[in-house]
Amino acid sequence: MTKNKTTQQWYGLFPEEKLNAVCFPAGKHISSATPIKQEVFKDITNTHINIVYNIVNKYEWTNRIYHYFDLNAGPEPELDVCSALSFLENIKESRKKQRYRYKSQPMEFKAVLIDKDDNRLKDLSNRIDKFLEIKVKDPKEKKVFNDSIDIIRGNNEKILKDYMALSRNMYGILYHDPFGEPSFDILKEFAKHYPRMDIVLNCNCGTIKRTKNSATCKNSKTLKEHIDEMSKDHIVCSNKLRTCWQWLMMIFTNWDKYPRGRYVNVISGTSEWDNIMFKAVHTNEEIRKWNIGQLNLFK
Ligand SMILES: C[S@@+](CC[C@H](N)C(=O)[O-])C[C@H]1O[C@@H](n2cnc3c(N)ncnc32)[C@H](O)[C@@H]1O
Repeated sequence: MTKNKTTQQWYGLFPEEKLNAVCFPAGKHISSATPIKQEVFKDITNTHINIVYNIVNKYEWTNRIYHYFDLNAGPEPELDVCSALSFLENIKESRKKQRYRYKSQPMEFKAVLIDKDDNRLKDLSNRIDKFLEIKVKDPKEKKVFNDSIDIIRGNNEKILKDYMALSRNMYGILYHDPFGEPSFDILKEFAKHYPRMDIVLNCNCGTIKRTKNSATCKNSKTLKEHIDEMSKDHIVCSNKLRTCWQWLMMIFTNWDKYPRGRYVNVISGTSEWDNIMFKAVHTNEEIRKWNIGQLNLFK
Protein backbone atom coordinates (compact mmCIF):
# COMPACT_ATOMS: atom_id res chain seq x y z
CA MET A 1 0.00 0.00 0.00
CA THR A 2 1.49 3.32 -1.01
CA LYS A 3 1.10 6.03 1.54
CA ASN A 4 1.39 9.71 0.93
CA LYS A 5 4.23 11.46 2.72
CA THR A 6 1.70 13.29 4.84
CA THR A 7 0.53 9.94 6.26
CA GLN A 8 3.34 10.13 8.72
CA GLN A 9 2.22 13.47 10.11
CA TRP A 10 -0.27 13.95 12.89
CA TYR A 11 -2.31 17.05 12.41
CA GLY A 12 -3.84 17.30 15.89
CA LEU A 13 -7.39 18.21 16.78
CA PHE A 14 -8.87 21.65 16.49
CA PRO A 15 -9.93 22.97 19.92
CA GLU A 16 -13.51 23.26 18.62
CA GLU A 17 -13.61 19.49 18.11
CA LYS A 18 -13.62 19.07 21.84
CA LEU A 19 -16.71 21.24 21.92
CA ASN A 20 -18.39 19.13 19.27
CA ALA A 21 -17.46 16.00 21.18
CA VAL A 22 -19.41 17.40 24.11
CA CYS A 23 -22.36 18.24 21.91
CA PHE A 24 -22.68 14.74 20.47
CA PRO A 25 -23.37 11.79 22.75
CA ALA A 26 -20.39 9.48 23.04
CA GLY A 27 -20.51 5.74 22.51
CA LYS A 28 -23.18 4.60 20.09
CA HIS A 29 -21.96 5.00 16.51
CA ILE A 30 -24.09 2.37 14.78
CA SER A 31 -27.82 2.79 14.30
CA SER A 32 -30.49 1.24 12.12
CA ALA A 33 -29.55 3.91 9.54
CA THR A 34 -25.94 2.71 9.18
CA PRO A 35 -26.44 -0.32 6.86
CA ILE A 36 -28.87 1.72 4.72
CA LYS A 37 -26.29 4.51 4.52
CA GLN A 38 -23.74 2.04 3.12
CA GLU A 39 -26.18 0.80 0.48
CA VAL A 40 -27.15 4.34 -0.50
CA PHE A 41 -23.53 5.46 -0.75
CA LYS A 42 -22.53 2.49 -2.92
CA ASP A 43 -25.40 3.30 -5.26
CA ILE A 44 -24.36 6.98 -5.42
CA THR A 45 -20.71 6.26 -6.28
CA ASN A 46 -21.67 3.65 -8.86
CA THR A 47 -23.90 6.13 -10.70
CA HIS A 48 -21.39 8.95 -10.28
CA ILE A 49 -18.40 7.05 -11.69
CA ASN A 50 -20.43 6.14 -14.79
CA ILE A 51 -21.55 9.74 -15.31
CA VAL A 52 -18.00 11.07 -15.04
CA TYR A 53 -16.66 8.36 -17.37
CA ASN A 54 -19.17 9.47 -20.01
CA ILE A 55 -18.22 13.13 -19.56
CA VAL A 56 -14.45 12.66 -19.75
CA ASN A 57 -14.88 10.41 -22.79
CA LYS A 58 -16.92 13.03 -24.58
CA TYR A 59 -14.88 16.16 -23.82
CA GLU A 60 -11.14 16.15 -24.36
CA TRP A 61 -10.40 19.23 -22.25
CA THR A 62 -11.57 17.51 -19.06
CA ASN A 63 -9.28 16.17 -16.35
CA ARG A 64 -9.38 12.38 -16.85
CA ILE A 65 -8.52 11.47 -13.28
CA TYR A 66 -11.56 10.71 -11.11
CA HIS A 67 -10.89 12.15 -7.65
CA TYR A 68 -12.42 10.61 -4.54
CA PHE A 69 -11.91 12.34 -1.18
CA ASP A 70 -13.23 10.48 1.86
CA LEU A 71 -12.98 12.79 4.88
CA ASN A 72 -14.11 10.08 7.32
CA ALA A 73 -12.78 6.89 5.80
CA GLY A 74 -12.30 4.84 8.99
CA PRO A 75 -14.71 1.87 8.91
CA GLU A 76 -17.11 0.97 11.71
CA PRO A 77 -15.35 -2.04 13.28
CA GLU A 78 -18.67 -3.91 13.58
CA LEU A 79 -19.54 -3.66 9.86
CA ASP A 80 -18.02 -5.47 6.85
CA VAL A 81 -18.89 -2.67 4.44
CA CYS A 82 -17.43 0.82 4.46
CA SER A 83 -17.44 3.87 2.21
CA ALA A 84 -13.84 3.62 0.95
CA LEU A 85 -14.19 -0.06 0.01
CA SER A 86 -17.52 0.61 -1.70
CA PHE A 87 -15.82 3.23 -3.83
CA LEU A 88 -12.86 0.95 -4.66
CA GLU A 89 -15.19 -1.93 -5.60
CA ASN A 90 -17.19 0.34 -7.86
CA ILE A 91 -14.15 1.85 -9.58
CA LYS A 92 -12.71 -1.64 -10.10
CA GLU A 93 -15.93 -2.84 -11.78
CA SER A 94 -16.17 0.32 -13.84
CA ARG A 95 -12.56 0.09 -15.07
CA LYS A 96 -13.21 -3.52 -16.11
CA LYS A 97 -16.30 -2.48 -18.05
CA GLN A 98 -14.46 0.42 -19.69
CA ARG A 99 -11.64 -1.86 -20.81
CA TYR A 100 -13.60 -4.91 -22.01
CA ARG A 101 -17.07 -3.69 -22.94
CA TYR A 102 -16.24 -0.21 -24.21
CA LYS A 103 -12.73 -1.14 -25.39
CA SER A 104 -11.29 2.07 -24.04
CA GLN A 105 -8.42 3.06 -21.79
CA PRO A 106 -9.90 2.97 -18.27
CA MET A 107 -10.35 6.26 -16.47
CA GLU A 108 -7.60 6.90 -13.92
CA PHE A 109 -8.50 7.65 -10.33
CA LYS A 110 -7.09 9.09 -7.11
CA ALA A 111 -8.56 8.11 -3.74
CA VAL A 112 -7.59 10.23 -0.73
CA LEU A 113 -8.75 8.40 2.39
CA ILE A 114 -8.54 10.42 5.62
CA ASP A 115 -9.34 9.60 9.24
CA LYS A 116 -8.04 10.78 12.60
CA ASP A 117 -8.39 7.42 14.33
CA ASP A 118 -5.29 5.26 14.10
CA ASN A 119 -7.07 1.95 14.78
CA ARG A 120 -9.76 2.61 12.23
CA LEU A 121 -7.17 3.53 9.60
CA LYS A 122 -5.19 0.35 10.30
CA ASP A 123 -8.41 -1.61 9.90
CA LEU A 124 -9.05 0.19 6.59
CA SER A 125 -5.52 -0.50 5.38
CA ASN A 126 -5.97 -4.22 6.15
CA ARG A 127 -9.32 -4.32 4.39
CA ILE A 128 -7.82 -2.69 1.29
CA ASP A 129 -4.86 -5.09 1.27
CA LYS A 130 -7.30 -8.01 1.45
CA PHE A 131 -9.46 -6.51 -1.31
CA LEU A 132 -6.40 -6.13 -3.58
CA GLU A 133 -5.22 -9.64 -2.83
CA ILE A 134 -8.57 -11.32 -3.47
CA LYS A 135 -10.35 -9.11 -5.99
CA VAL A 136 -7.58 -7.48 -8.05
CA LYS A 137 -5.60 -10.36 -9.53
CA ASP A 138 -3.92 -8.63 -12.47
CA PRO A 139 -0.50 -7.29 -11.28
CA LYS A 140 -0.71 -4.21 -13.55
CA GLU A 141 -4.15 -3.35 -12.20
CA LYS A 142 -2.95 -3.98 -8.65
CA LYS A 143 -0.14 -1.48 -9.24
CA VAL A 144 -2.63 1.11 -10.51
CA PHE A 145 -4.63 0.68 -7.29
CA ASN A 146 -1.54 0.84 -5.08
CA ASP A 147 -0.35 4.01 -6.81
CA SER A 148 -3.77 5.66 -6.70
CA ILE A 149 -4.68 5.30 -3.02
CA ASP A 150 -3.45 7.66 -0.30
CA ILE A 151 -4.33 6.81 3.28
CA ILE A 152 -3.80 9.81 5.54
CA ARG A 153 -4.14 10.01 9.30
CA GLY A 154 -5.10 13.31 10.89
CA ASN A 155 -7.65 16.06 11.02
CA ASN A 156 -9.62 16.09 7.77
CA GLU A 157 -10.06 19.89 7.71
CA LYS A 158 -6.34 20.52 7.94
CA ILE A 159 -5.44 17.80 5.44
CA LEU A 160 -8.00 18.92 2.87
CA LYS A 161 -6.44 22.38 2.85
CA ASP A 162 -3.35 20.77 1.24
CA TYR A 163 -5.58 19.69 -1.66
CA MET A 164 -7.08 23.09 -2.43
CA ALA A 165 -4.79 23.93 -5.35
CA LEU A 166 -5.44 21.08 -7.80
CA SER A 167 -7.03 21.52 -11.22
CA ARG A 168 -10.38 23.32 -11.07
CA ASN A 169 -11.49 21.10 -13.96
CA MET A 170 -11.36 17.90 -11.99
CA TYR A 171 -14.36 15.62 -11.52
CA GLY A 172 -15.25 13.27 -8.72
CA ILE A 173 -16.76 13.13 -5.26
CA LEU A 174 -15.89 14.42 -1.83
CA TYR A 175 -17.65 12.36 0.87
CA HIS A 176 -18.19 13.68 4.38
CA ASP A 177 -19.66 11.22 6.87
CA PRO A 178 -19.05 12.60 10.37
CA PHE A 179 -20.45 11.22 13.62
CA GLY A 180 -22.06 14.55 14.48
CA GLU A 181 -22.01 18.05 13.12
CA PRO A 182 -20.58 18.42 9.60
CA SER A 183 -17.52 20.62 8.99
CA PHE A 184 -19.39 23.07 6.81
CA ASP A 185 -16.54 25.60 6.58
CA ILE A 186 -14.24 23.21 4.75
CA LEU A 187 -17.08 21.95 2.53
CA LYS A 188 -17.87 25.54 1.53
CA GLU A 189 -14.21 26.22 0.71
CA PHE A 190 -13.97 23.00 -1.32
CA ALA A 191 -17.22 23.75 -3.19
CA LYS A 192 -15.84 27.16 -4.21
CA HIS A 193 -12.51 25.73 -5.42
CA TYR A 194 -13.90 22.80 -7.36
CA PRO A 195 -17.03 23.65 -9.34
CA ARG A 196 -17.09 20.22 -11.06
CA MET A 197 -16.55 18.07 -7.98
CA ASP A 198 -19.77 16.94 -6.29
CA ILE A 199 -20.06 16.80 -2.52
CA VAL A 200 -21.88 13.96 -0.77
CA LEU A 201 -22.81 14.67 2.83
CA ASN A 202 -24.33 12.22 5.27
CA CYS A 203 -25.87 14.89 7.44
CA ASN A 204 -26.93 14.55 11.06
CA CYS A 205 -29.65 17.20 11.01
CA GLY A 206 -30.61 16.59 14.65
CA THR A 207 -27.16 17.52 15.88
CA ILE A 208 -27.14 20.78 13.89
CA LYS A 209 -30.39 21.81 15.60
CA ARG A 210 -28.98 20.95 19.02
CA THR A 211 -25.67 22.75 18.50
CA LYS A 212 -27.37 25.81 17.03
CA ASN A 213 -29.41 26.22 20.18
CA SER A 214 -26.60 25.41 22.60
CA ALA A 215 -24.51 28.08 24.32
CA THR A 216 -21.48 25.74 24.54
CA CYS A 217 -21.25 24.89 20.80
CA LYS A 218 -19.67 27.02 18.12
CA ASN A 219 -22.37 26.43 15.47
CA SER A 220 -24.76 29.36 15.18
CA LYS A 221 -26.48 28.51 11.90
CA THR A 222 -29.35 26.35 10.76
CA LEU A 223 -28.85 23.66 8.11
CA LYS A 224 -30.65 25.89 5.62
CA GLU A 225 -28.25 28.78 6.33
CA HIS A 226 -25.24 26.48 5.82
CA ILE A 227 -26.72 25.14 2.59
CA ASP A 228 -27.33 28.66 1.27
CA GLU A 229 -23.62 29.44 1.77
CA MET A 230 -22.43 26.44 -0.28
CA SER A 231 -21.41 27.45 -3.80
CA LYS A 232 -23.39 24.66 -5.42
CA ASP A 233 -26.52 25.31 -7.47
CA HIS A 234 -28.48 22.10 -6.81
CA ILE A 235 -28.99 19.50 -4.13
CA VAL A 236 -30.36 16.01 -4.50
CA CYS A 237 -31.24 14.26 -1.23
CA SER A 238 -32.81 11.13 0.17
CA ASN A 239 -36.57 11.13 0.61
CA LYS A 240 -36.55 10.61 4.36
CA LEU A 241 -34.84 11.66 7.53
CA ARG A 242 -33.59 8.50 9.25
CA THR A 243 -33.72 7.72 13.01
CA CYS A 244 -34.19 10.27 15.79
CA TRP A 245 -30.91 11.91 14.66
CA GLN A 246 -32.56 12.70 11.32
CA TRP A 247 -29.77 11.47 9.04
CA LEU A 248 -30.10 12.84 5.53
CA MET A 249 -27.91 11.92 2.55
CA MET A 250 -27.35 14.93 0.29
CA ILE A 251 -25.47 15.47 -2.99
CA PHE A 252 -24.34 19.06 -3.69
CA THR A 253 -23.77 19.66 -7.38
CA ASN A 254 -23.69 22.36 -10.05
CA TRP A 255 -25.22 20.01 -12.57
CA ASP A 256 -28.87 20.83 -13.24
CA LYS A 257 -29.52 17.40 -14.75
CA TYR A 258 -28.11 15.32 -11.92
CA PRO A 259 -30.08 12.04 -12.20
CA ARG A 260 -32.42 10.99 -9.41
CA GLY A 261 -31.14 7.79 -7.88
CA ARG A 262 -32.89 4.82 -6.30
CA TYR A 263 -32.46 6.28 -2.81
CA VAL A 264 -31.39 9.87 -3.36
CA ASN A 265 -34.12 11.39 -5.45
CA VAL A 266 -35.53 14.60 -3.96
CA ILE A 267 -34.38 17.71 -5.83
CA SER A 268 -33.92 21.15 -4.28
CA GLY A 269 -36.57 23.68 -5.22
CA THR A 270 -39.44 21.15 -5.20
CA SER A 271 -42.25 20.95 -2.62
CA GLU A 272 -40.91 17.56 -1.48
CA TRP A 273 -37.58 19.27 -0.75
CA ASP A 274 -39.34 22.05 1.19
CA ASN A 275 -41.11 19.44 3.33
CA ILE A 276 -37.88 17.63 4.17
CA MET A 277 -36.05 20.87 4.92
CA PHE A 278 -38.86 22.04 7.18
CA LYS A 279 -38.47 18.92 9.35
CA ALA A 280 -34.67 18.99 9.09
CA VAL A 281 -34.33 22.60 10.15
CA HIS A 282 -37.01 23.08 12.83
CA THR A 283 -37.15 21.53 16.28
CA ASN A 284 -40.26 19.60 17.36
CA GLU A 285 -41.18 22.51 19.58
CA GLU A 286 -40.96 24.98 16.66
CA ILE A 287 -43.04 22.65 14.46
CA ARG A 288 -45.63 22.27 17.25
CA LYS A 289 -45.93 26.06 17.56
CA TRP A 290 -46.13 26.43 13.78
CA ASN A 291 -48.94 23.84 13.61
CA ILE A 292 -50.88 25.65 16.35
CA GLY A 293 -50.39 28.91 14.42
CA GLN A 294 -51.76 27.27 11.25
CA LEU A 295 -54.81 25.94 13.14
CA ASN A 296 -55.48 29.39 14.61
CA LEU A 297 -55.54 30.85 11.08
CA PHE A 298 -58.65 28.79 10.34
CA LYS A 299 -60.53 29.71 13.56
C1 LIG B 1 -19.27 7.67 10.82
S1 LIG B 1 -17.59 7.23 10.88
C2 LIG B 1 -17.17 7.00 9.20
C3 LIG B 1 -17.69 5.73 8.62
C4 LIG B 1 -17.17 5.45 7.24
N1 LIG B 1 -17.43 6.54 6.31
C5 LIG B 1 -17.81 4.18 6.71
O1 LIG B 1 -18.55 4.22 5.74
O2 LIG B 1 -17.54 3.12 7.27
C6 LIG B 1 -16.80 8.76 11.23
C7 LIG B 1 -15.30 8.70 11.17
O3 LIG B 1 -14.83 10.04 11.17
C8 LIG B 1 -13.60 10.07 11.88
N2 LIG B 1 -13.38 11.47 12.25
C9 LIG B 1 -14.12 12.22 13.11
N3 LIG B 1 -13.65 13.48 13.15
C10 LIG B 1 -12.59 13.54 12.30
C11 LIG B 1 -11.70 14.57 11.92
N4 LIG B 1 -11.80 15.82 12.40
N5 LIG B 1 -10.74 14.28 11.02
C12 LIG B 1 -10.62 13.04 10.51
N6 LIG B 1 -11.45 12.01 10.85
C13 LIG B 1 -12.42 12.26 11.72
C14 LIG B 1 -13.80 9.08 13.02
O4 LIG B 1 -12.57 8.61 13.51
C15 LIG B 1 -14.63 7.99 12.33
O5 LIG B 1 -13.81 6.98 11.85
